[in-house]
Amino acid sequence: MNPDTPWWQRAVFYQIYPRSFADGNGDGVGDLAGLRARLDHLVWLGVDALWLSPIYPSPMADFGYDVSDYCDVHPLFGSLAELDALVADAHARGLRVILDLVPNHTSDQHPWFVESRASRTSAKRDWYVWRDPKPDGSPPSNWIAAFPPNTRAWTLDAKTGQYYLHFFLPQQPDLDWSNPEVVEAMQGVMRFWLERGIDGFRVDVVHCIGKDLTFPDDVEPFSRLPHVISHYHESTHRHLRALRKLVDSYAGERMLVGEIAQTPEERFARYYGQGDELHLAFDLPHQIYTPWDAAKWRERVANLEAWLGPRGGWPTWVLSNHDTPRHRTRLRASETDARARAAAVLLLTLRGTPFLYAGEELGLEDAVVPPARVVDPGGRDGCRAPVPWERAAPHGWRGAEPWLPFAPEPAARSVEAQRGDAGSILALYRRLLALRRATPALQRGAQRLLDAAEGVLAFERSDGAERYAVLVNTGAAEAQSDIAGRVTLSSDGRGEGAAFSGRLAPDTALVVRRG
Ligand code: NOJ
Repeated sequence: MNPDTPWWQRAVFYQIYPRSFADGNGDGVGDLAGLRARLDHLVWLGVDALWLSPIYPSPMADFGYDVSDYCDVHPLFGSLAELDALVADAHARGLRVILDLVPNHTSDQHPWFVESRASRTSAKRDWYVWRDPKPDGSPPSNWIAAFPPNTRAWTLDAKTGQYYLHFFLPQQPDLDWSNPEVVEAMQGVMRFWLERGIDGFRVDVVHCIGKDLTFPDDVEPFSRLPHVISHYHESTHRHLRALRKLVDSYAGERMLVGEIAQTPEERFARYYGQGDELHLAFDLPHQIYTPWDAAKWRERVANLEAWLGPRGGWPTWVLSNHDTPRHRTRLRASETDARARAAAVLLLTLRGTPFLYAGEELGLEDAVVPPARVVDPGGRDGCRAPVPWERAAPHGWRGAEPWLPFAPEPAARSVEAQRGDAGSILALYRRLLALRRATPALQRGAQRLLDAAEGVLAFERSDGAERYAVLVNTGAAEAQSDIAGRVTLSSDGRGEGAAFSGRLAPDTALVVRRG
């Protein structure tokens, strides 16, 4: 074990979607004051770092991923002073805080874009990507936006007669990173936050910032899919090397974790560079959509090691986030939590940095959102339901009704109900986090896949003489294993402290101490 492992390799991150976490002022939308009042709960849970989805001023066309001012806080969430206070309180409790940086696009209400679209000769015209229509009036390329579905990634601005590029909504125009003024402005934003003591950034769709300014048409099989998933341009790496240098120039091991959503998948490893680009990267959406199948997970673990190993890259593990159905819903768990509990053991014992999405530790499913309450243009409301804090309605969301309905069983799944139940999934997450923190082999040790029966994923984590086997039975039947040792933790709480019997119930995971 290397005692000098950076904190972001040892840490477990906890993603907070601020609108849905905790409401301090009773307006039905979560805010910084609400979050600040819950920090002690997060310390009790045992996570190490918080990632806050965007809290900046925004018209909220994409719920904050359309930023109209990178250096302030939306009044809905609080103020800059409240953010400073939150960060100070978090740091005082040993929690790091990273913010979401959205460098690929701004809001169409951002003063930069307002100026850019004002005229063809505006001083900021070339901060964004403006092009003339083709001779027949059509957009410069066939690229498709991520949402709304099946729409073009180009919008014609009637006043100036040119198209502007947007990989997401028309209200999210893409910046032109080939313009050094844009790079300098975004680096200024990063300095602003780093100087305020932020520990780093989760960087939104960072594989998109470099662009081929000849805009070649997408070809089959990508021409009918959102352009963002196949987008690749070499210049992104140059930009990332510069951002890495900037972040590393600050004391205290600041870090970048990039959202990479790439096909072909193995390309995601390139964004680690040779240890000189991103500190960490998400392999999305492939990892999230890995089915509950031991063979598929085995392949995933082996692939990640093969892709990242030569670069010295450290993996990340994610089961849920604010863009995809929650894993308890997606993995088609039964009536019980069994599968979500086994998945928690997997997530928190694999070699790499895990990212939890607030609410998964409560075993939340997606909310069923009636058509009249749908608000997201990307159809992602279900996984963004408010966290139920208290057993009694309105579950800690005093005052106005929360902006989205609760997920099923809010009383039984509330923090209050589960904190008092040693057998709850919340208690399991807490025990797993404590075990991981106290066990160098699990936190940062070596990893080796082990042979196992069909339907079982088995791997060893080791640090010196300390050796643990992790066994995950994804199958529908009981499985056997000849691994010997003592059960340190089991996803169903059975057999802990006893010698491993060799039998693994369906949808169950065990941590077995070998050495
Ligand atoms: C990825 C973010 O996670 C998602 O929520 C957002 O809509 C897009 N990037 C655009 O910023």
